[in-house]
Amino acid sequence: MNLTFSLIKPGAMQHCEEILMAIKAEGFSIIAMKTQHLTFSQVEIFYKEHRDKSFFHEMCEGLTQGPVLLVVIHEKKGIETPLRFRTLLGATNPKEALPGTLRARFGVDINSNAVHGSDSKISAIRELSFFFSGIEIGFDITDYLPL
Ligand code: TYD
Ligand code: MG
Repeated sequence: MNLTFSLIKPGAMQHCEEILMAIKAEGFSIIAMKTQHLTFSQVEIFYKEHRDKSFFHEMCEGLTQGPVLLVVIHEKKGIETPLRFRTLLGATNPKEALPGTLRARFGVDINSNAVHGSDSKISAIRELSFFFSGIEIGFDITDYLPL
């Protein structure tokens, strides 16, 4: 899988240029992006795997505080782009993230941890197609199926 989906969270939007530069400096390319102020119910659907977790409500509130940047990441010869991008992200809790990772640099706390990245090929396909259409990204996401 040479694609993944990323989202710059509201608390890190003031650093979005620096974050995009760091992503490109690691050899990823950005094939589409758009800014959007998500609604609570859009976030609930996006993160539905977490709907029974104690942090779910706070997480949905954090993601609806202001606009986010939705980003489609590509690597020409990538085979594990979701995984490699997650390495650049760092651990979920910025306090545990390795120095130099995006969450260590730009995260505030576990809820406001700066940047999202899909956790697998199947998540990348689901999340990309949740936010972007083929017309916006210039290819047919179903070409990546079957998994
Ligand atoms: P999760 O999918 O576990 O982490 P990741 O983003 O690294 O894949 O959780 C989704 C988001 O939920 C996470 O980025 C921030 C928020 N969250 C909290 O606010 N508190 C928590 O205890 C956890 C685990 C996550
Ligand atoms: Mg996750």
